[in-house]
Amino acid sequence: MGVRASTRAGALVSPGRRPLIAGNWKMYRGGAAGCELADAVRRAVAPGARAEVVVAPPFTALAAVAETVRGATIGVAGQSLHPGTEGAFTGEVSGPMLVECGATWVIVGHSERRQLFGETDANVQAKVAAAAACELVPIACVGETLAEREAGRTLEVVSRQLAAILAADRAGVSLVVAYEPVWAIGTGRVAGPDQAEEVHAALRVQLERHDPALAAATRILYGGSVKPENAAGLLACPNVDGALVGGASLDAAAFAAIVAAAEPG
Ligand code: 13P
Repeated sequence: MGVRASTRAGALVSPGRRPLIAGNWKMYRGGAAGCELADAVRRAVAPGARAEVVVAPPFTALAAVAETVRGATIGVAGQSLHPGTEGAFTGEVSGPMLVECGATWVIVGHSERRQLFGETDANVQAKVAAAAACELVPIACVGETLAEREAGRTLEVVSRQLAAILAADRAGVSLVVAYEPVWAIGTGRVAGPDQAEEVHAALRVQLERHDPALAAATRILYGGSVKPENAAGLLACPNVDGALVGGASLDAAAFAAIVAAAEPG
């Protein structure tokens, strides 16, 4: 698995990790507007970009977006899933249903799910396992609130969240971790590269203790007010392997500029 070099924090970095830029559209662009955005992203992202590109539309646009980007090197993600495969769970969508729509990825444990819809670490763990069971790659989110950061509990919180994710049986399916400090989401208040790298390096060490091969292979994305202006600085950090982009992913040109920021300087 590539050449490894030590970082300041002692984590392992593999130059073999391909950057991943994922756009989380949240509850925007659910119909024809989703197809238009997907088509614009397809045209705006340079073919042969260094970064792997994924978009996560609302459920209602998933199949149409997957059709729109078919043949392009753009993956499609669900924004969540129910841990079961089917059942009397009104309003829920299962992993196999996402796969049927053309998704190959799924976001799990986003802070909006945790904070607004009461998802716990145990729910997130079950969802990671359910995703892997149908070979959807989970993009599993961790992140502290402002109060937790101010109380000096950032690393404790993200390490507890990551431990739950790692306890899921993934049956060999790869994993992506996204560090999204809650205070940076949709606020325009981005973590500085040093703040992001500190947490990413700690997450890498935790992955390393769990499984060195997993640590070397797992992309750790940063999310929270990523914009074309700040992307290059974040992506230059040794343990930042990509970005999970909210607001800026709704603008194809801005999203493509973030993808372009992952090109070697
Ligand atoms: P913003 O980029 O809008 O801050 O959202 C980040 C996010 O929550 C991505 O999942």
